[in-house]
Amino acid sequence: MKTYAIAAIPGDGIGTEVVAAGIEVLVAIAKRDGGFAFKIDHFDWGGEYCKKHGRMMPENGRDQIRKHDAILFGSAGHPDIPDHITLWGLRLAICQPFDQYANVRPTRVLPGITSPLRNVNGGELDWVIVRENSEGEYAGVGGRVHQGSPLEAATDVAMFTRAGVERIMRFAFRLARSRPRKLLTVVTKSNAQRHAMVMWDEIATQIAAEFRDVTWDKMLVDAMTMRMVMRPETIDTVVATNLHADILSDLAAALAGSLGIAPTANLNPERTFPSMFEPIHGSAFDIMGKGVANPIGTFWSAVMMLDHLGEKNAADRLMKAIERVTADKRFHTPDLGGKARTADVTAGVVDAIQGANT
Ligand code: IPM
Ligand code: MG
Repeated sequence: MKTYAIAAIPGDGIGTEVVAAGIEVLVAIAKRDGGFAFKIDHFDWGGEYCKKHGRMMPENGRDQIRKHDAILFGSAGHPDIPDHITLWGLRLAICQPFDQYANVRPTRVLPGITSPLRNVNGGELDWVIVRENSEGEYAGVGGRVHQGSPLEAATDVAMFTRAGVERIMRFAFRLARSRPRKLLTVVTKSNAQRHAMVMWDEIATQIAAEFRDVTWDKMLVDAMTMRMVMRPETIDTVVATNLHADILSDLAAALAGSLGIAPTANLNPERTFPSMFEPIHGSAFDIMGKGVANPIGTFWSAVMMLDHLGEKNAADRLMKAIERVTADKRFHTPDLGGKARTADVTAGVVDAIQGANT
């Protein structure tokens, strides 16, 4: 029987709660499927680790997880440590060297969930946002001089490479082609950002020629926020820069009902390195330890992990189990206006996995 080695990195805050729930569900789905198993290795990296050891993960941390089949990540963020330290010390320290350049964020209004948009009942909002995940505004290029003096200066330079843009465009066009509507929106800001974004647009046009069966359009990022709210049914697959997609994906998650539901895959499509799966939400220290975090974002990320591992049947079965549970308001956590606890939702999904109809 095939055994997948999974590196679990819960991180901080509610990350530990939702990853524990995610592992329960993964074990249940493997058991139900019968064709594969998981071997799960736990890594206690993150803010607490940093307070003890002075860094977010060990120096050879990446070597410890390089050979795993996938990574299940919770969230990194700690009230006592600046956000840019936790981000660059863990999440980006894995994503960038492991070349997980395609960050994929599906958004759908799941059964039983209410969108804040008046005219959206489900089918009108079914998107996948592809976020460039290796460069752009998150390239880390820049600096700060004369700190504290009136002459202080700081730069953050967004860096785009032709190779980086070509590969994310190709990935997005391919994904759009695989979906029924074959429709891609390329998000840009080439009116104001007149160098890199103009190259971004040119490369989009060039790659589009390889995908004549995909209908595509181009949208300025500010106008895109309006289109997402006013005409959600006109959108299917979206590709955007690291920062633009970061912002758009929070809006997308909110429009689909809750940040607690939204999943992410950080993919290394060439499979040279493991890919990483995580809920989109952060460590949410305000609700940490209360047992009320919504684990659905992690469960949906587990679906994406199963898909990536090639376990299509298990992925479909888990997604069905998730939808069965969201459809039942008794399983709604406080972020959805309900009273359910993480453990209730987890037990509900495990039950649904074991049920005859999934
Ligand atoms: C996300 C998050 C992160 C990001 C934060 C936690 C740094 O917002 O995954 O969207 O900006 O990339
Ligand atoms: Mg974000």
